[in-house]
Amino acid sequence: MARRKMVAGNWKMNGARDANASLVHDVVFDSKRFPGIDIVVCPPAVYIESVGAALNGSSVQLGAQTLSEQEKPGAFTGEIHGGMLKDVGCSYVLVGHSERRSLYGESDALVAHKFKTAQACGLVPVLCLGETLAEREDGQTESVLARQLGAVVDLTGAAAFKSAVIAYEPVWAIGTGRTASPEQAQAAHAFIRGQLAKTNAKIANSTRILYGGSVKADNAATLFANADVDGGLIGGASLKAAEFLAICALAQSLCQ
Ligand code: 13P
Repeated sequence: MARRKMVAGNWKMNGARDANASLVHDVVFDSKRFPGIDIVVCPPAVYIESVGAALNGSSVQLGAQTLSEQEKPGAFTGEIHGGMLKDVGCSYVLVGHSERRSLYGESDALVAHKFKTAQACGLVPVLCLGETLAEREDGQTESVLARQLGAVVDLTGAAAFKSAVIAYEPVWAIGTGRTASPEQAQAAHAFIRGQLAKTNAKIANSTRILYGGSVKADNAATLFANADVDGGLIGGASLKAAEFLAICALAQSLCQ
């Protein structure tokens, strides 16, 4: 069974009401040209509801950038419960983005709890994994990916990936203009799939693994053409409608 390609935009801490309205208008308008792929946008939390309203009636889906690990709402100032994200229209939520891990101290264990809570709230987690440059140069890429993935699999079991997406995002490629080569991306994706396959081959085969890290319209085709690359998680280029849509068009052109 072919895995349906996905292109997800992570807006990070960018956006404003006027700019969002114009970006979403353009994405929605052109999204009709890409019926073979899933398109997701992940705005900052305060804009989720207004962006969701603008997506209404389109096939573009809504995601959040993070959520609280808390299973129940309550006295957790500043946090956002997964149920609230679901309530305002999110289908997906990123968990374990490298910026959350490195700038906000999210551990493998915390990320695993967020993954579990997301699913309990009816959201599809997009689990982000990736090594730093130092780790890659030290030959630790596979052990880092195995550790980050293993923390989640140990908590939830591999079967939980039936309703999850993985994003391989090498830290050294995020926002740097430097992408993994198609060979590096394919090798990491195949490794991640192989790790899942050790416990559940069927799930491993059906789980989508996106690539993220300086994806642009001019490099998306060679990355997405790899057997184990099922689309992209796009940062900077998701803020420009023409660029994001060009990436969607490339993904659409690869669907069977
Ligand atoms: P860039 O596409 O800006 O490198 O960001 C990638 C990313 O972190 C997406 O989550």
